[in-house]
Amino acid sequence: MAESTFLGKALVTGAAGMLGSQVILGAPDGATVVGTDLTDASGVEIPGVDLADPAAVAALWEEHGPFDGIIHTAAYTAVDKAEEEPELALRVNGTACDVLAKQAAQSGIPLVLVSTDFVFDGHAKQPYKESDPVSPLSVYGRTKLAGETLAQAAHPTGTRIVRTQWLYGPRGKHFPRTMLELAKDRDHLKVVNDQVGSPTSTLELAPALWDVLGGGEAGVYHAACEGSCSWYDLAKATLELAGVEGVTVEPCTTDEFPRPAHRPAYSVLDCARLTALRGAPLAPWRDALGTYLGIEAQ
Ligand SMILES: NC(=O)c1ccc[n+]([C@@H]2O[C@H](COP(=O)([O-])OP(=O)(O)OC[C@H]3O[C@@H](n4cnc5c(N)ncnc54)[C@H](OP(=O)(O)O)[C@@H]3O)[C@@H](O)[C@H]2O)c1
Repeated sequence: MAESTFLGKALVTGAAGMLGSQVILGAPDGATVVGTDLTDASGVEIPGVDLADPAAVAALWEEHGPFDGIIHTAAYTAVDKAEEEPELALRVNGTACDVLAKQAAQSGIPLVLVSTDFVFDGHAKQPYKESDPVSPLSVYGRTKLAGETLAQAAHPTGTRIVRTQWLYGPRGKHFPRTMLELAKDRDHLKVVNDQVGSPTSTLELAPALWDVLGGGEAGVYHAACEGSCSWYDLAKATLELAGVEGVTVEPCTTDEFPRPAHRPAYSVLDCARLTALRGAPLAPWRDALGTYLGIEAQ
């Protein structure tokens, strides 16, 4: 696999989040990292900064810069709540990308911006390529797309968009963790079987983001674990690999669990461009899930 060539000083946003925390832990040897989030994370030296505020970002540069690159994972990620708070979601997912991209352009440094499969409508029958038409179904998807567009306009030569999906990892709230929690109290779970994607471990994605920062080019990359499944398949695999017994999982349809935000029914990503950059794909989703659950069990 290709080594990340990033050896400079990086700003990682969303440092207290599920992905950002793993990006910091997975920083390559030789890189210096400054992590930032909305609030100071206890126990870690992280300056709290609202990235949608240009003055706050300028002050961050003044105090902690200059930086040689940015990995931007911070976002408004409450997909259903975003339907009620479109302005706040746009401020965080759109405006903050614009502010950071302008700062990156001024500094002449690359910006890796993490985006989502929710920019697609899910009507495809084969994995989405980076160049496929976008058509988000939700406020969250539209605001993330706005972030992509604003960043590319502000810093066309330095913006590297990495779209990913179905994340889980050692930190934060996510689907496999929710299934394991529910299985403590219930012996029967009903899980949606008509949405298909690729569960992706932050342990797999974090090194890929460093490689894109170190060796990528401007444009869009898709990044997800190999293979695909439904949420029902993922629930079953989680319980099985975690050794949970006595819990049955029943498939159901999205219509049986109506949620405020519409989600793409099929959002598998074609990751060939990232594979070409790194010399290997991310691990198969079931292997990566097993690795993660093994770490959790320790
Ligand atoms: N989770 C997934 O399945 C998934 C799938 C596809 C793409 N993504 C993308 O992957 C990235 C990381 O997602 P994640 O699941 O790790 O998210 P997360 O755990 O919610 O972390 C995002 C972090 O950004 C912070 N933040 C929110 N508003 C901010 C602002 N104005 N300024 C600075 N920081 C702010 C959040 O702080 P608070 O918690 O205090 O609000 C949070 O710590 C995001 O770009 C997301 O859109 C996620």
